[in-house]
Amino acid sequence: MALRHLMSPLDFSVEETEKLLDLAADIEKNPEKYSHVCDGKILATLFYEPSTRTRLSFEAAMMNLGGKVLGFHSADSSSATKGESVSDTIRLITCYADICAMRHPKEGAPLVASLKSGIPVINGGDGGHQHPTQTLTDMMTIRSIKGRLDNLKIGLCGDLKFGRTVHSLISSLSRYPGVSFVLISPEELRVPSYVREGMRAKNIPFEEVVKLDETTMAGLDVLYMTRVQKERFFNEADYVRMKDFYILDKEKMSVAPEDMIVLHPLPRVNEISVDVDDDPRACYFRQVQYGVYARMALILTLLEMEVE
Ligand code: CP
Repeated sequence: MALRHLMSPLDFSVEETEKLLDLAADIEKNPEKYSHVCDGKILATLFYEPSTRTRLSFEAAMMNLGGKVLGFHSADSSSATKGESVSDTIRLITCYADICAMRHPKEGAPLVASLKSGIPVINGGDGGHQHPTQTLTDMMTIRSIKGRLDNLKIGLCGDLKFGRTVHSLISSLSRYPGVSFVLISPEELRVPSYVREGMRAKNIPFEEVVKLDETTMAGLDVLYMTRVQKERFFNEADYVRMKDFYILDKEKMSVAPEDMIVLHPLPRVNEISVDVDDDPRACYFRQVQYGVYARMALILTLLEMEVE
């Protein structure tokens, strides 16, 4: 079999994605069955940009499978500061590890690495572009809680321009029948045109609105909140003007559908008030746990490890 990487959620067909999510669900039910599958295997985490969840959940995932981890958590603590390229870095990581997860502020950097890699490379987030493992996490969360990935009306709210999790989730869910989107953002933070054109090309129903209110939330199965991505703004004044544009609080939740779940890739800043955390519809911390199972399933899939 040819070496496989994960750069975009579309690298897996719908059937492959479903198989991976089935595996993740089995891992959730039977964790002990998988606890030594990766004995002797090593995961490298190459993080050129800050992360809490993605890096640590990858590390937890590999350790839960019996494997080991090595890596760096910032470009500053690597030889990138001396000018080493990602192409050279991945060549040496191939000598140390069996699989690698990479986050990089530059769009396409993990793809560049994958072209020179002798081991599977996983995109752990590249600039404002894609975040496919967050998408696997989001899909597992939605499928586990709502019981399906088709026939869903999904609201995505906040920074839809720079929010890479939004771009990846839209592209992946657009392949399921009956899915529609409500894109809720300030004018300046609308989805990039390639995402909008992608939906149009597939005849996916979507609308773009500015207000997050009772009318906007009517009929939503999922409300996916995102933070304004401070690190991608060119000037502080624009960020300050946008950062509290949306705040989902108890009052707004009181007019939201009873069966609408609230997701957020996290980290949260102000866009979800902490008074929403105890609402049974608030599922963003459960989402974090699903992320470990999804990444365990991904590691097994890319390493082609079968478990009877
Ligand atoms: N969801 C997510 O990517 O979080 P981190 O930036 O903490 O990895």
